[in-house]
Amino acid sequence: IPVDPFDLVIFGGTGDLARRKIIPALYRRFIAGQMPPEARIIGAARGDLDDAAYRDQMRGALAEFLSGDLNADDVSAFLDRLHFVSIDATGDAGWSDLRDLMRDDVIRAFYFSVAPSLFGALAQKLHDQDIAGPQSRIVVEKPFGRNLKTAKALNETLARHFDETQIYRIDHYLGKETVQNLMAVRFGNVLFEPLWNAQYVDHIQITVAETVGVSGRGAFYDQAGAMRDMVQNHMMQLLCLIAMEPPSRFEPDAVRDEKLKVIRALDPVPSDDIVRGQYAGTDDIPSYRQDVENPDSQTESFVAMKVGISNWRWAGTPFYLRTGKRLRARASEIAVVFKDAPHSIFGEEAGRHRNILTIRLQPNEGMMLGVTIKEPGPGGMRLVDVPLDMTFADALGPEGEHVPDAYERLVMDVIRGNQTLFMRGDEVEAAWAWTDPLVDAWEARDERPALYEPGSSGPEEAQILMHRANRRWREIK
Ligand code: BG6
Repeated sequence: IPVDPFDLVIFGGTGDLARRKIIPALYRRFIAGQMPPEARIIGAARGDLDDAAYRDQMRGALAEFLSGDLNADDVSAFLDRLHFVSIDATGDAGWSDLRDLMRDDVIRAFYFSVAPSLFGALAQKLHDQDIAGPQSRIVVEKPFGRNLKTAKALNETLARHFDETQIYRIDHYLGKETVQNLMAVRFGNVLFEPLWNAQYVDHIQITVAETVGVSGRGAFYDQAGAMRDMVQNHMMQLLCLIAMEPPSRFEPDAVRDEKLKVIRALDPVPSDDIVRGQYAGTDDIPSYRQDVENPDSQTESFVAMKVGISNWRWAGTPFYLRTGKRLRARASEIAVVFKDAPHSIFGEEAGRHRNILTIRLQPNEGMMLGVTIKEPGPGGMRLVDVPLDMTFADALGPEGEHVPDAYERLVMDVIRGNQTLFMRGDEVEAAWAWTDPLVDAWEARDERPALYEPGSSGPEEAQILMHRANRRWREIK
């Protein structure tokens, strides 16, 4: 179904995110028939391009970042929707051109795909130049601040000119099909919800493992580290969707209210329950410190932690979070590890087994439930775990094979005016309020992260964190 006609202005229209994600996502939606004929995409950036030169650049981006054969006619038809305005975010140049280009009878959306230091200036300009009206929307990329103080200041700056209902803070994890599926699995089935609590769940593991290092973005990353780059936002969102109470409706504030309650119920994490790691190098692979060109860096490229939630549903059931770069495999999953059956009627020699529900977020998207059955054979009753395993590609056929990119969903949601999959200001602030003391504590201790081998599962200390409680991380593979 096509969305309403729109003008989408992408500040940073020639930048990496626009080329890699936003423009390819818009192209796919165009092909899917969602873009009405009147829709326009306006790249805005410094630089002296005209429409034709911009279209050429974006043709290159589509060829580079979309797999499969692109139909040249489709590409040209899409590129016809693109325009370019040369603009100076902090100066005066270009703003009147942009104003002249805007139309009154369509939705106006402004995507801030620029350095965070420019967010405030852009909001101010859009207001001063009378370009954004009460119906306009702004889209803000991460990082949303680097602590509570800066996030608050940013929220205040944006709030000066935009209402909360106009602000779309992106966490691209929420746009991932499989992340939305977490809600479908939990709230679309009667099977899981009765067991989804501390009485039946021993613990939950959330892993986002990456094989890439940080070369190329070292300057940014070294100031952030895994805690700010991944935990405060993406991991936190995953934790919220797993832990939250059922919202009464799948509507923006109903969902975001429930997520906020989870963040506010998170316990402070004692330093013993956090492991920070940094990847070492080998003869062939540069170390983290080489990648960021900072021989003394104490920034973490890996973090593992045990987090408690103080509410009735989860008190006593820890959530283990783990994320890192240069690990053995790219694998993100959530594992809900259920408790032992209260009593084994088969005796101890039959073996003790646990149900584990694993939701694979990427790659090989799907889910698996470990079920205990009888080991075949004429002997006694021995138990064995077998997987009920489903990949979305197999289960859903061609529909399940093309997993749309997160940005396809999110950009269209901005046009539709649906904020459900975007973070509200208070959510972001609450997440920082929980993160800040943890970071402050290790910075005050001047703590060094533990080194780990590239291609491993992270530092040994992360294993010990689990072993202490007689638990084990699931293998990264
Ligand atoms: C980004 C982080 O937000 O998410 C990156 O800044 C990380 O460091 C990326 O690599 C992971 O996203 P995805 O979609 O590849 O899992």
